[in-house]
Amino acid sequence: MIKAQTMKIPFTDLKPQFKEIKVAANRAFGELVKRGDYILGRDVREFECSFAGFIGTKYALGVNSGTDALFLGLLGLGIGPKDEVIVPTYTYIASAFAITYTGATPVFVDIDEKTFNIDISKIEKAITSKTKAIMPVHLYGQSADMRPILRIAKKHGLKVIEDAAQAHGAEYHGKKVGCIGDIGAFSFYPTKNLGAFGDGGMLVTNDEKLFEKLKKLRDYGRKTRYEHVSLGYNSRLDSVQALFLGQKLKKLDEWNKRRILAAKLYRKLLCGAENIILPEEASYGKHVYHIFAVRVKNRDAVLEGLKKAGVNAAVHYPIALHLQEVYRDLGYKTGDFPVAEKISHDVLCLPIYPHIKESDIKYVVKILKGLVKNG
Ligand SMILES: Cc1ncc(COP(=O)(O)O)c(C=O)c1O
Repeated sequence: MIKAQTMKIPFTDLKPQFKEIKVAANRAFGELVKRGDYILGRDVREFECSFAGFIGTKYALGVNSGTDALFLGLLGLGIGPKDEVIVPTYTYIASAFAITYTGATPVFVDIDEKTFNIDISKIEKAITSKTKAIMPVHLYGQSADMRPILRIAKKHGLKVIEDAAQAHGAEYHGKKVGCIGDIGAFSFYPTKNLGAFGDGGMLVTNDEKLFEKLKKLRDYGRKTRYEHVSLGYNSRLDSVQALFLGQKLKKLDEWNKRRILAAKLYRKLLCGAENIILPEEASYGKHVYHIFAVRVKNRDAVLEGLKKAGVNAAVHYPIALHLQEVYRDLGYKTGDFPVAEKISHDVLCLPIYPHIKESDIKYVVKILKGLVKNG
């Protein structure tokens, strides 16, 4: 008798992506090895050019991670000690760490219960005489509401740096995120919608002066090979990563479409399900579903139940940043940001990736519905 096989559904699966780019990427890799320009070589320049074209900015600059993109972006905007930067409390720790690295202080703001993005109505209350910038985060692949953010920034003379680490290709009123504020910062962490085979990141801007400053910041403050005019870092995107990313970028629109279709199917199958709150899509933009997050009661038990059934779900994020130990000295306490705290207790991120099968989604939904009902 054949034993019934337990389904195994990963949270994400990158192998099919490589399969699609393998031939072209291997050819380009062979050429790179022949040229040997591994640092800021042709592949980096070409990828920066295509990425700027994709986002719709004049300039793009490859750096070695999304965290560095945010950090260098903030330095480029002149942020430093004694300054404050407003950031949502519900995001990955890197958004806040980048602010802290500059010597500035992250000032946390609660999120909107529908989109999980920064709550616009709470931003102005967080502004002080020290505030220098706002960092909206386009969480899970959905744009923050940028028009009111830009309006507030203009009124108070603040810069806007978009954390677009999770939102390659997401749109806000027809514009790609990343090109709306003063600077956009992207991550190419492998699991991102556009992911490298290691670490990588990108800064985008339309401001030429800022671009020139950022170029020095990422490469030892270099004017020429051995002339250093300002303090800079070693934060360059590797040619090898740029080469693979360039191939993957050609597929990104199609892969984002597949994510959107997967989300649609989840939505259809989960519609009206008891005790499951579905994610909301804001009418102002295009969500590219880096993450498909639902909300359930008894989240940890449901997560465990899914795991037992072979479904690898995840929690992004179980602790809001104002309650992280590392930021204890800032003096926040439980209850300060009730929406973020509530969501961190009941959020559950289901497997989603461009090549996920319909049958996998159906299986996840079946198991999830059963767990939620019995929970
Ligand atoms: C919202 C957000 N910001 C920043 C980062 C940092 O990017 P990286 O891991 O490339 O440093 C990430 C990803 O990990 C992220 O999800």
